Amino acid sequence: MAGTDSGEKELVHVFAPATVANIVCGFDVLGFALDEPGDEVIMRRVDQPGVHLIQVTGDEGRLPREAGKNTVSACVQMLLKYIGREDVGVTIELHKHMPIGSGLGSSAASTVAGLFAINALLGNPLTRMELLPFAIQGEALACGHGHADNVAPGLLGGITLIKGYEPLDVVAIPAPPALHAAVVFPHVDVPTRDARQMIRSKVALKDAVIQWGNIAGLVAGLFTNDYDLIGRSMQDVLIEPTRAILIPEFYEMRRLALDSGALGFGISGSGPSVFAFAQSRETAGDIVKVIQSHLTQHGIDSNGYVSGINANGPREL
Ligand code: HSE
Repeated sequence: MAGTDSGEKELVHVFAPATVANIVCGFDVLGFALDEPGDEVIMRRVDQPGVHLIQVTGDEGRLPREAGKNTVSACVQMLLKYIGREDVGVTIELHKHMPIGSGLGSSAASTVAGLFAINALLGNPLTRMELLPFAIQGEALACGHGHADNVAPGLLGGITLIKGYEPLDVVAIPAPPALHAAVVFPHVDVPTRDARQMIRSKVALKDAVIQWGNIAGLVAGLFTNDYDLIGRSMQDVLIEPTRAILIPEFYEMRRLALDSGALGFGISGSGPSVFAFAQSRETAGDIVKVIQSHLTQHGIDSNGYVSGINANGPREL
């Protein structure tokens, strides 16, 4: 994780990655960063104080253009206020390279890119961990709830556990070296806000026992490179049965992934994207191909991604 250094800049160009939240059993507490896709922010110093959102591309006009309402510029404004630098003026260009409502942490990638950019522009006055609360506020603005399981791995890289929210307690979890993700985004719209509203707020104790056994098993498997345990633990009895209804061909995609060598399979974040863990890049590639081909046969377009676990999070381009 980056510390502080000195040296302000005039221009920064930042990439921040997509993320897979929940990792099946860890609703709102587990997530990991992908190598691709991701969003880009170009930020320039200008004389006029304030945060000026001058361009947004790749969103088909869906995101707010008003600086106080767009999560990227709103979070940059919050950060400047917090560090007492409201004298600073910046322009922001946001270039989205992933779809909104995909379940791949689209809003998180944009927000993280913006926060990483302003911090870099000012010579890194804050650590990445100190940027995290601003990114969580961005999620609250984007979908009505401030969960951290996209923004934490997006900002810090790797696999993260949100051990607690009050106070915020984030733990880095090691990624087994051969672990790869196969990710498919079927082109159907599932807004996070809606996908959260349909979840039951009460759970049965017998289901909770299964769920926390799986979370502990998954974390133990990640720490010990036990791929079989990782796969056995990728089971969600609380959220997936409800959300799977919104995702066409979900159970058939799972069967195809497991038949193609997936360790485990589930919904990425709130969907509609799905993902599988595999023990090699090649197997992950096979899983993506077989799922995409199945979706094509059912008249559903999709994007597919094969990725290792992105240990770095955002980066300057
Ligand atoms: N944990 C969040 C949810 C992630 O499942 O609603 C949203 O991408």
